[in-house]
Amino acid sequence: MKVLGIESTAHTFGVGIVDDGKIIANERDTLKPLSGGIIPREAASHHYRFAPTILKNALDKSGLKLKDIDLFAFSQGPGIIPALKVGYQLSTFLSKKYKKKLIGVNHCIAHLEIARLYTGMNDPVMLYVSGGNTQVITYYNKSYIVFGETQDIGVGNLLDKTGRRMGIPFPAGPEIEKLAMKSKKYIELPYSIKGMDVSFSGLETFVSKLIGKEKNEDIAFSLQETVFSMLIEASERAMAYCTKNSLVITGGVAANKRINEMGKIMCRDRKAKFSPIPIEFAGDNGAMIAYTGYLMRNYKQEDLEIRPRFRTDTVEINYR
Ligand SMILES: Nc1ncnc2c1ncn2[C@@H]1O[C@H](COP(=O)(O)OP(=O)(O)OP(=O)(O)O)[C@@H](O)[C@H]1O
Ligand SMILES: [Mg+2]
Repeated sequence: MKVLGIESTAHTFGVGIVDDGKIIANERDTLKPLSGGIIPREAASHHYRFAPTILKNALDKSGLKLKDIDLFAFSQGPGIIPALKVGYQLSTFLSKKYKKKLIGVNHCIAHLEIARLYTGMNDPVMLYVSGGNTQVITYYNKSYIVFGETQDIGVGNLLDKTGRRMGIPFPAGPEIEKLAMKSKKYIELPYSIKGMDVSFSGLETFVSKLIGKEKNEDIAFSLQETVFSMLIEASERAMAYCTKNSLVITGGVAANKRINEMGKIMCRDRKAKFSPIPIEFAGDNGAMIAYTGYLMRNYKQEDLEIRPRFRTDTVEINYR
């Protein structure tokens, strides 16, 4: 069975194709504004502009034609409304034109499933870290339970906002990572973990006041050490509580070497399993939507509208 998946929740327009669950194409383009953050309208026009090329490139890579596709999948949410609409409209059009089924995929669950696929971990605690989301998730009784999460902004968002104040354009995560590698000077920062939840907005304000006073590389290093420790601590607690012996880290921030290193050390100390996901599948991509669409191929969905506030724990998982 051949599934084509479209991702368009935020800054990235992506098309992925899977053949019987095996990924055979994963093409994308990410909006990189010259200054400031992502403006919803600009994200949508970026996606409209790139959709034809990305779709064609993915089909060329796979050696397939649209008529060969058995099922279309799209990212239903959570995300930015105008951006979500692009993937929704394109996939609805294609499914009608080629008379094939359409599946709406929860974007967060897609990040989890691609991580399980590429790490081979069957039932891990999942640390999902991206721009908009930061959650510690476990699977229980046919759903993905959010065990802990950010009470305010996502960790990637914190990195992007701090970066912007340093003059680094979006996405700042990779540049902050490079800066951090140049420093060994730890500046004490607020460490705010409340039960299983974390909070970043106080930290964001605190760090904003250091800019100009401390070196950017020392701020980057201290920020990474602090927030990644908070997240690994929450993940460790979830592993202990749920007696799960493996961890995966997924989402855009999972591209970061340091968070993976910390995850690896924590797991080694607990004699648990850890494996990083390939960078290609950390950030938003179409392949994860196609793959999750494939897993969900037998779902009967009534509500195929976009769902801007779609929560991870509201989907019944009946393919596991
Ligand atoms: N090497 C890195 N280190 C730290 N953060 C990174 C790195 N690479 C990317 N990021 C961050 O990842 C985030 C993007 O994540 P992703 O592509 O999953 O999109 P998203 O819109 O945030 O997705 P979601 O809807 O899942 O929240 C950005 O905040 C970016 O700065
Ligand atoms: Mg994402």
